[in-house]
Amino acid sequence: MTEICSAEIPIPRTKTGKVYLVGAGPGHPDLLTIRAAELLKTAEVIVYDRLIQDEVLALAKPSAEKIFMGKPLGKHCSRQEEIHDLLVRKAREGRTVVRLKGGDPFLFGRGGEEAEYLAEHGIPFEVVPGVSSCLSAPLSAGIAVTHRDRASSLAIVTGHNADGNDDRLDWCALSKVDTLVVLMGVHNAAHIAQHLMAAGRSPDTPVAAVQMAFWPGESVVSATLGTIADEVRRAHVEAPATLVIGEVVRLREKLKHHQQHIGEPTDQDSLVHIVSAPDLPASDALTLEEASCVVPAPCEKEVLQ
Ligand SMILES: C[S@@+](CC[C@H](N)C(=O)[O-])C[C@H]1O[C@@H](n2cnc3c(N)ncnc32)[C@H](O)[C@@H]1O
Repeated sequence: MTEICSAEIPIPRTKTGKVYLVGAGPGHPDLLTIRAAELLKTAEVIVYDRLIQDEVLALAKPSAEKIFMGKPLGKHCSRQEEIHDLLVRKAREGRTVVRLKGGDPFLFGRGGEEAEYLAEHGIPFEVVPGVSSCLSAPLSAGIAVTHRDRASSLAIVTGHNADGNDDRLDWCALSKVDTLVVLMGVHNAAHIAQHLMAAGRSPDTPVAAVQMAFWPGESVVSATLGTIADEVRRAHVEAPATLVIGEVVRLREKLKHHQQHIGEPTDQDSLVHIVSAPDLPASDALTLEEASCVVPAPCEKEVLQ
């Protein structure tokens, strides 16, 4: 009887890996979804953008390959082709890849293009939603974007092209929306305000610019449509910042001294807000009780710590 020798032949890793397009939310690790945190812990490769906090990346296993593919803040230079190729290459090596993006991957995050590219190249992928800055930035500043009495409609737009010919926004239609949230618009605040006022929106409409929401050093500039451009310039507001335009911004006055933030002490006695208003030096730490008595200035910049 002939014996067939079954020598062990090494099997090459031919199976294609998978790409997870994951939203990291506003930045704070507690605001990741459970799915996002689980995937970060098991991924072999993490391709990440600029607005990702170190504590989020620290969830990765030590052997994970972490590749930074961020663009300079406020710049839109494209590394997109490089990113596409990288995702496909790593997946074809049979690896589990997390493509980590700030906020939600499908909201102004080019996640749609990445998904298209993966689909065209036959790479399996999954999309994991994240908490977008379009909602979390207003929320962190004490602004509910809808309100039973004040706002029934909401539009989320990019302000990136508000100064040029390739601006596809219908400013006339947008001027009629109760609450307008503008991403990537802080450098075009003057153009955005002009477009809306020219379309009939009152110059007295309240506006807030929320910078670095859910990050250390978060700040808020409150103004009106007529004054926001000057105030943003005066306060040196830089990207990433989100503009919120509409009557709902007024709610902030009621909420801002009482709303607590992630990581703040829960003991009411030790809760402090640093409020920089005309009559208050920035170094003055106020208790919650004192802070609630501060008469808000019409236009103030405050830093929550
Ligand atoms: C390229 S878009 C990406 C949006 C992201 N996909 C999301 O869902 O939040 C970047 C813009 O989001 C807004 N943004 C992102 N992080 C922010 C933050 N921490 N605070 C305020 N705005 C933020 C800013 O308008 C910024 O210019």
